[in-house]
Amino acid sequence: MKPTFLSGIWIKMLIPLLGITLLAGLARAEPGPPPLVTAALGQNVSLPCPGGTDGDAVWLRDGRALADAAPDTDGQLLVTDASVDDEGLYGCLQHGGEDTGDVKYVRLLVKRPPGPLVNVSVRAHTVLAELFWRANDTGSVPLTGVELRYRALGEQQWRRSLPPHVAPSETHRELYHLRPNRTYEFRVWATNEMGEGPPVTVQATTRPEPSQLGEYKYPHRRAVGRHVTRPPGCTHDQCGTAR
Ligand SMILES: *[C@@H]1O[C@H](CO)[C@@H](O)[C@H](O)[C@H]1NC(C)=O
Ligand SMILES: *[C@@H]1O[C@H](CO)[C@@H](O)[C@H](O)[C@H]1NC(C)=O
Ligand SMILES: *[C@@H]1O[C@H](CO)[C@@H](O)[C@H](O)[C@H]1NC(C)=O
Ligand SMILES: *[C@@H]1O[C@H](CO)[C@@H](O)[C@H](O)[C@H]1NC(C)=O
Repeated sequence: MKPTFLSGIWIKMLIPLLGITLLAGLARAEPGPPPLVTAALGQNVSLPCPGGTDGDAVWLRDGRALADAAPDTDGQLLVTDASVDDEGLYGCLQHGGEDTGDVKYVRLLVKRPPGPLVNVSVRAHTVLAELFWRANDTGSVPLTGVELRYRALGEQQWRRSLPPHVAPSETHRELYHLRPNRTYEFRVWATNEMGEGPPVTVQATTRPEPSQLGEYKYPHRRAVGRHVTRPPGCTHDQCGTAR
């Protein structure tokens, strides 16, 4: 969790650090993005001071001094048991440097399975439902896909959408051949190279067919959109679907 405090020059560094601490936030942005170092969740990772050091360095995070790096590891900062909290921008100042312009930055990314999808919602029609979601936390690596399952309440088997592969860029799917006036549960989760994110489950009830409401008056009306219109009195099994 905590960067290790490896050498004993802390007190010596404290006075100049106060100045650095105040000025670090004002330091001009480095040209170009800082180099990235990637660690998997729970790994130990050494952050190298960009440009190298002569064996000693002071590390800063959010404008505050973190720890002196170990001279025997060339000024690198060791982050043990990397967690999500360790992710972020680290500044490195070579021992002896005084100008805040000398601070070099490196960004630590902690690879992990994705977080839950957010804004998951369903718009249920008669025999069609539209499922919507958004990726919020991809786990610091690109998503490899989204998994989607659904079933009527009381069913054991989950069904997959067609086609089953949901690309990471997709944010909604239409699901067909549902039965009217039934409650379904829909489950979605994201995946990346580190594994699967937690599933999010939502429920929605399809609308009754007009015939079920006793208001079915237009048997030859054209199907609107992808809604299915069936002759009155037909059940799903007898008549199938007409698209
Ligand atoms: C990380 O380093 C600590 C000691 O610094 C060690 O106890 C631990 O086993 C290491 N963890 C891994 C995953 O290498
Ligand atoms: C989720 O919805 C809220 C409110 O509409 C919106 O502010 C937020 O940006 C959405 N999140 C994502 C990841 O799209
Ligand atoms: C979105 O992800 C961030 C971390 O990347 C997290 O702090 C936040 O709570 C997430 N938002 C939702 C709605 O889950
Ligand atoms: C919808 O289903 C419920 C039971 O699940 C039933 O009580 C209700 O009458 C049905 N509605 C219609 C219009 O068929």
